[in-house]
Parts: sequence; structure tokens; C-alpha cells
Amino acid sequence: MKILIFPDAATASAETARRILATLAAQPCAVLGLATGGTMKPVYEALRTALGQSPATFTSFNLDEYVGLPSTHPQSYAYYMKTHLFDAVALPGAQAHLPRGDAPDPAAEATRYEATIAAAGGIDLQLLGLGANGHIGFNEPTSSLASRTRIKTLTHKTVTDNARYFGSDEVVPRLAITMGIGTILDSRAILLLATGAGKRDAVARMIEGSISAACPATALQLHANVTVLIDEAAAANLKLRDYYETVHPGGADEIYT
Ligand code: PGA
Repeated sequence: MKILIFPDAATASAETARRILATLAAQPCAVLGLATGGTMKPVYEALRTALGQSPATFTSFNLDEYVGLPSTHPQSYAYYMKTHLFDAVALPGAQAHLPRGDAPDPAAEATRYEATIAAAGGIDLQLLGLGANGHIGFNEPTSSLASRTRIKTLTHKTVTDNARYFGSDEVVPRLAITMGIGTILDSRAILLLATGAGKRDAVARMIEGSISAACPATALQLHANVTVLIDEAAAANLKLRDYYETVHPGGADEIYT
């Protein structure tokens, strides 16, 4: 893993966006894996600014979607992506994929989604956030490290963490369709962005803990091309922090001196 530590969330997010844009510059028809959540909002803001309204040529697959929410529901991830990225960069609907939350048969929808990713040739660059409980996508603790896209029951912690996005009179969904950990590990490259003190335990476990389904993000240690971008607050519990800063001073790429 490349561990890049930035002074604050704004610089970590800006560098994440820069790396996505560099991929698109080199490979305009890249297949991107996209994530939602509060952490990603500044990344999409930067992409909107940089990409403007010329029709986007990339294809995207989002990690997950709540079961039961139609794409028009303001808390659906389809709606999040439409408002934070897709409309602004004129991404044609056929190129923007999310699992359908309101599919009549969610299990069949998960299988279809996995097959659609494969048919597109797999994911070139996967963007990931990190749950405070160590989840990636909605792969909650104890998820199989070999899992493929499927239905997952959300933990109480995730439901509580996400409740802030829902109205007090709304029921927070308990089920989601999510890419599996095996699906994520098939991506050719991965960028994980985590910011804020709330993520410091999960960040330390992901990077320096033993590989275990108890912390799904530890599975990323098995991938050969993962870049982790974090801010000071999220880096606070890392034991080998000095080493990461020696290898990547100021979040730069490696220097071998
Ligand atoms: P957040 O979500 O960015 O809203 O903290 C991250 C995640 O759960 O993957």
C-alpha cells in the first residue's frame, strides 16, 4: 500500500481528484468504480469543476445502493451521484451504473450487476471510502473476503452513522446491494480516501492490522496497487507514520534516496 498523508481533508481530497483526472487524461474511456458518502463530496466538486459539461467518455460502476430506495429518493446513491457528478459532467445514463435499489428481485439484481462489471472489462480505477467500522462499500465486518456483489444486512453502527442523512421520520434502510470484497479486489487500481478523526481507528487497522473479515478493509493488503490518501486526523493512530512520511513526503510519490 502507498500511504499518503496530507495536512487536511481539503488537500487529501484535491489529490484524490487529481489522480482520477490523471487516469481519465491517460485513458478517457476508463471504467471507474465510484463511491458515495460525505468524504467524497469535495472530490466530486473538483471533478465537476475540471470536467465541465463536455460529455464524459468514462463508464462508471458505483459500489452500492440501498435496497428499497428508487433512484429518485434523495437518500439513494443514484440520486447522490446524479446531483454530485453525473448531471454536471453530462455522463450519458448508459455509462453510469448503480445497482437498482428498487429492483423487484434484489438478489438477481446483484448477480446482474456483477456480470455487467465483467462485461465492461472490469474496473480500471476504484475509488473507496472507509467506514468507521472498517467497511468498504457495504461489506460489513465478517463479510467474506472473497465475496461478490450481493445483498448485505447493514450493522447497527452503519445504520446509526447514516441516519444523519435521513429525516427523523424516515426509516433508514437495513439492506444494501454491494460489490463484494472479491469484486473490489479485481479492480486494476484502488484509491481509498479517509479523512477526520472518526476514521483513525479504522485506518490504523486497515494498514497495520492483521488481515481479517472483522475489518473488511484489511483485505486491501492483498491488492498490489492500492493508494491510501488520508489527512492528519485520520493518520493519528498509525504506528509507522514516520516511515510513510519518509517514503512519501507531503503525500508525494516515492522518492528513492
Ligand atoms: P462517509 O462514508 O464518507 O460518509 O464517512 C464512508 C463509508 O462508509 O464508506
